[in-house]
Amino acid sequence: MIKIKKFSNKESLFKELVNYYVKRINENPNIKLGLATGSSPIPLYKGLIEEYENKKVSFKNVLTFNLDEYVGLEKENDQSYYYFMFNNLFNHVDINKNNVNIPSGNVSDLNKECDRYNKLLSNNKIDIQLLGIGANGHIGFNEPGTEFETRTHIVDLDSQTIKDNSRFFESIDLVPKKAITMGISDIVNADKVILIATGKNKAEAIKKLAESDKFDINFPASSLYDHKNFTVYADEDACSLIKI
Ligand code: GLP
Repeated sequence: MIKIKKFSNKESLFKELVNYYVKRINENPNIKLGLATGSSPIPLYKGLIEEYENKKVSFKNVLTFNLDEYVGLEKENDQSYYYFMFNNLFNHVDINKNNVNIPSGNVSDLNKECDRYNKLLSNNKIDIQLLGIGANGHIGFNEPGTEFETRTHIVDLDSQTIKDNSRFFESIDLVPKKAITMGISDIVNADKVILIATGKNKAEAIKKLAESDKFDINFPASSLYDHKNFTVYADEDACSLIKI
């Protein structure tokens, strides 16, 4: 059974989640965090910055590993996930930039970059992996059709994902068509996995996830159905199609 924590509003959801992260970082200052982009985790990052400013937490020895990145965007591009992470979190806390790991989608040899990232993940077991969920059930950029055993790899983005993510670009033609992403087996390998789902546009995906009782290759998030420490943090809107 997938554990879903339902919150009556986003404020209470993120208050609890921020407190959880602060507690875990204080318990283990060398914690290895798997981080995600997208709009879902932004309030968590905002809350963590506030707690850092209030001297409740330090990121000095925290190690981070991001899930994914678009192929072909420079780091400075304001739509790159590198830019997103620095803009929404890293520039505002005391993290050591050498402890930040983000796969690069802007190198000449992408296979070599996948190998580099896989080696890094093999040497660093992630304590808490954060996830959002795509409307089509993607996690990271593991689109429907992705095998369970995958490690970091290059993907062709699904037309639904390109459409969904076009809201951040000036036109749909500017949305990259490829990305580099941790694989499903990298994600499920984390000790704990937290998935954030807020808003009505996630309700279908959360319904499908709640009903998952085996891995369905057409719904990547179902790969977490039997993870021993997986929790969904969802608001009422995201839970509007399920009974809990
Ligand atoms: C992107 C990211 C995912 C993210 C998803 C949902 O495609 N690659 O990691 O979970 O979008 O994004 P949002 O949180 O903005 O709905």
